[in-house]
Amino acid sequence: MVKKGVKIEEPSGKLGVLIPGLGAVSTTFISGVEAIKRKIAQPIGSLTQLGTIRLGKRTERRVPKIHDFVPLASLNDLVFGGWDIYEDNCYESAAKAGVLEKTLLDAVRPDIEKIKPWRAVFSQDYVKRLHGPNVKSGKNKMELAEQVMDDIEQFRETNKVSRLVMVWCGSTEVYMKPEAAHASLPAFEKALRENDRAIAPSMVYAYAALCKRIPFANGAPNLTVDVPALTQLAQEKGVPICGKDFKTGQTLMKTILAPGFKSRMLGLKGWFSTNILGNRDGEVLDDPDSFKTKEESKLSVLDQILQPDLYPDLYKDFTHKVRIHYYPPRGDNKEGWDNIDIYGWLGYPMQIKINFLCRDSILAAPIVLDLVLFLDLAQRCGMRGIQEWLSFYFKSPMCAAGLYPEHDLFIQLMKLKNTLRYLRGEDLITHLGMEYYD
Ligand SMILES: NC(=O)c1ccc[n+]([C@@H]2O[C@H](COP(=O)([O-])OP(=O)(O)OC[C@H]3O[C@@H](n4cnc5c(N)ncnc54)[C@H](O)[C@@H]3O)[C@@H](O)[C@H]2O)c1
Repeated sequence: MVKKGVKIEEPSGKLGVLIPGLGAVSTTFISGVEAIKRKIAQPIGSLTQLGTIRLGKRTERRVPKIHDFVPLASLNDLVFGGWDIYEDNCYESAAKAGVLEKTLLDAVRPDIEKIKPWRAVFSQDYVKRLHGPNVKSGKNKMELAEQVMDDIEQFRETNKVSRLVMVWCGSTEVYMKPEAAHASLPAFEKALRENDRAIAPSMVYAYAALCKRIPFANGAPNLTVDVPALTQLAQEKGVPICGKDFKTGQTLMKTILAPGFKSRMLGLKGWFSTNILGNRDGEVLDDPDSFKTKEESKLSVLDQILQPDLYPDLYKDFTHKVRIHYYPPRGDNKEGWDNIDIYGWLGYPMQIKINFLCRDSILAAPIVLDLVLFLDLAQRCGMRGIQEWLSFYFKSPMCAAGLYPEHDLFIQLMKLKNTLRYLRGEDLITHLGMEYYD
């Protein structure tokens, strides 16, 4: 049987990974990849490295590994570069972040020490709690974007990479809403030249990446590429983009549990979530304007999954609170508490308590890896614009105008795997299964 599928370019040569923000998440990701390459650690949590995909009927027993099914870049071909407002190299920054043990960091030290951050596009107007020396200057934001493009070209040249991907792992910026400057590319470029306040630093990086036809993922809840000017630019240039806000920790738990409650028609009266977090991200989120960006991202999840309009008896007017407290002794090991008030048959109330002692960057690092590899795959398949099949990885998935985002983790996974089947010309899996009983 001739399979249809999509023409996919082979991943030949090196893949450059460009990261604005060499902090806890990105240094845990980079050090982790180097440790995995050296076979001293395993890529736990990464779907591209460990996941399988069922093909055809259950009787066929065809279940290849995802990385054998679609042509992904090899970890050995990844090369890293990044920007930060601090001058610490990747080893120093990872050591300060305190996520990984010194023995592991020392084992990969020669590889990560040479990653020195380029000067950042930064302004305290957008991240109030940070102040660092390694910052670019220019007469306007367009000039800063051009400097970012120069960094990229130098990196491309020095490392002889054949392809590039950019993932925003920088701090969460203050809350911003789409406005006139974001509505079209001409308006956006005018705003860049005129130093308009509506253009945040993360947008400058995203614009530079898209102009260079480099796929872009947004790991923070910032607006960044989620504005018409940049989604159109991605579409026109044939570049895949996705975002926003890596789905780890508490929100991951929410998108696992809420679909379960809904599928059993259990009601929800309230969901109270609080966290203590002591890393730099926690410090940035201690500023109310940055927290507002995060809060919006965290709050949207339950409404979309539970659909109160369709199920008013179960989900109308439930209370949803999210709090993050900066508590330095906890470092990157965030502790989250959830109190969930649900109700069942005849309205009888029940409570669920969750105490998740998680490690934020340990949960986020495999997401960065998967996004790098899948975005590169998407570009080699000729996919462009918003990649909704990568919603699986985000708290606030980007989607086409007029659509509501899909938050249910299990639907997101099915969508991701069906996209891979589609790319390879395999039957999509509907789980109907009538044929087994004919
Ligand atoms: N760890 C998680 O589970 C998780 C989950 C979802 C989202 N995020 C988001 O990912 C981002 C990174 O998280 P983290 O824990 O690594 O934070 P971090 O504070 O350790 O690292 C962020 C780094 O970005 C740098 N930075 C800030 N603005 C910059 C700019 N304009 N250009 C270049 N560098 C800049 C900071 O100096 C810092 O080193 C945050 O926005 C966070 O909210 C993290």
